[in-house]
Amino acid sequence: MNANEIRKKFLDFQVKHGHKVIPPAPIVLENDPTTLFTGSGMQPLLPYLLGQPHPEGTRLTDSQPSMRLQDIEDVGDPRHTTVFEMLGNWSLGDYFKKEQIENFFEFLTKEVGLDPEKIYVTCFIGNEKYGIPKDTEAAEIWQNVFKKAGVEAKIVEIGSAANGDKRGINPGERIFFYDDKENWWSRGGGIETTPLGDPCGPDSEVFYDFGEDKQDIKKYGKSHPASDGARFMEIGNQVFMQYKRKEDGTFEELEHKNVDFGGGLERITAASINSFDVFKISLLAPIIEKLEELSHKNYDNNTDEMRIIADHLRGAYLLAAQGLLPSNKAQGYALRRLVRRAILKALDLGIGQEFLAEILPVIETNYQDLSDDILPSRKNVLEVLTKEENAFRKTINKGLRELHRMAASSAAGALTGYDLFKLQDTYGFPLELSVEEVYKMGFTLSKDYLTEFESALSEQRERSKTASKGMFKGGLSDTGDQTVKYHTACHLLLAALQDEIDPNIAQKGSNLTPERLRFDFNIDHKLTSEELKKVEDRVNAWIEADFPVVYAEYDKDYAFDTLHAHGSFRDRYPDRVTVYAIGTGTPEDTPDTIDTGLISIEICGGPHVTHTGELGKFKITKEESSSAGVRRIKAILE
Ligand code: ALA
Repeated sequence: MNANEIRKKFLDFQVKHGHKVIPPAPIVLENDPTTLFTGSGMQPLLPYLLGQPHPEGTRLTDSQPSMRLQDIEDVGDPRHTTVFEMLGNWSLGDYFKKEQIENFFEFLTKEVGLDPEKIYVTCFIGNEKYGIPKDTEAAEIWQNVFKKAGVEAKIVEIGSAANGDKRGINPGERIFFYDDKENWWSRGGGIETTPLGDPCGPDSEVFYDFGEDKQDIKKYGKSHPASDGARFMEIGNQVFMQYKRKEDGTFEELEHKNVDFGGGLERITAASINSFDVFKISLLAPIIEKLEELSHKNYDNNTDEMRIIADHLRGAYLLAAQGLLPSNKAQGYALRRLVRRAILKALDLGIGQEFLAEILPVIETNYQDLSDDILPSRKNVLEVLTKEENAFRKTINKGLRELHRMAASSAAGALTGYDLFKLQDTYGFPLELSVEEVYKMGFTLSKDYLTEFESALSEQRERSKTASKGMFKGGLSDTGDQTVKYHTACHLLLAALQDEIDPNIAQKGSNLTPERLRFDFNIDHKLTSEELKKVEDRVNAWIEADFPVVYAEYDKDYAFDTLHAHGSFRDRYPDRVTVYAIGTGTPEDTPDTIDTGLISIEICGGPHVTHTGELGKFKITKEESSSAGVRRIKAILE
């Protein structure tokens, strides 16, 4: 069966069981300071799971395109993808465990046609500390369901996944109890990490067995569902969402008991064709075939690269088809990163020419069944993404030319780690690519090139710290603590103006004192009070999220052209500039490694606070005209 058929079957089946189909939420979230993308079907339903009545009633269903960028490094294995569709059904205080378990089992065995012998399940073992009981009820319902299907299903207590790795499975065992790391669902993971105020509960996960020969015992221990090996694949999760975590950290029962079911469309489809490799399904295989054709290489020998390219370009397609543009900020940067990673991997395969125009139509054909409401900008995808490809290829080509020049001018034909660092630092040309190119061209690398590269990197970090300490401070009249805070607030203010009002807004001047900031910027109208409120709220949300503020020194061209840092005086800056960036990440990040959550990136001498939480509350006190086409904002930190 193909994915489009399964999506339709699922929704029809749920309608038959009294559910209303609701439109899925966009993948790209706007104005949510906690997260960039929709990562599960339940996310848009949060208020309803907490008790607010839903206009469509108590039984809902959809197929929610979702993005889990945190899985990007796992892509390349047989089952991880960054974007996927989550088939979902919900009971908002309506049916509970019995109906849900019977419903999903019937769907899998009768509609999709899976062999019940290949289905294994897990349930929650309970947690004494928080007084959450063992979910014997769910386990017994499962046992009955299997019995009716003529399948033996012993119930076993496992505890942790590590125990499962040691123990394995004996004949006849099918229902397993695990701890909260495996069978408790909240948006934060286990019991202790459940976010305060969030709905949560024990879950029961459903796995498909691809057969013992698929298990890599050495890597994952003995076969059991939670071991992440290739034998078992999770194809659905039924969350019995009956608790809410209170602000004091304890759990209270929700007034209504909900069911939150989510099942990966791609994975269920893979099970339906008995393929442990999800890249064999209808939404992905045609992309792989096209890659084989373009590279004249075979999937079996280039599996990881082809999976990564197929995944990333499909992800990029879906994001762009929802109207997202590549940029250097937040979601736009995630899109840029997907495209760039795909292009680099394609180079590994020997695809050096522009190829997105060949792949994107294949993906578009796969998604004909999704309506224009879900993919409103599908017509622009080709143009937007091929433009991005073209720009990135120029960067790469510059780097390649420089690499060849370096190799030709080195007497021994050997490049050092310092050379490779310069390529990365100046042209954004990644280390791995340099190494490969050097070997391809028959040049050599100095023996210690990795150590040299590392030392060049740390020297540069050192230099940029010293540079920013001693540097003339742009708009600063002094560098007292309070003024430093206002300086960081200016960066957030510019980013908020660009996000909320107009991406073309640039800074036209600023003046800081320990009491207030003054910030001038280009715009053609007086800001309304709603606009000012939006900007103010944006800045405060970023302050509350407590993002790190990081910096490093770069070549000016790299800062502007590759990092797309803002700076109003390109011609007047020196060749080396300091770049400050704010976004989700850690204090160890630098402006070129903070990626998915980039909020602000500016060329600036500093200094700044180290994290936005230091700023306090941001308040705009005045908006006035400064000169023709330039407005001025005054603001304070309380
Ligand atoms: N919300 C549940 C999940 O993401 C269904 O697994």
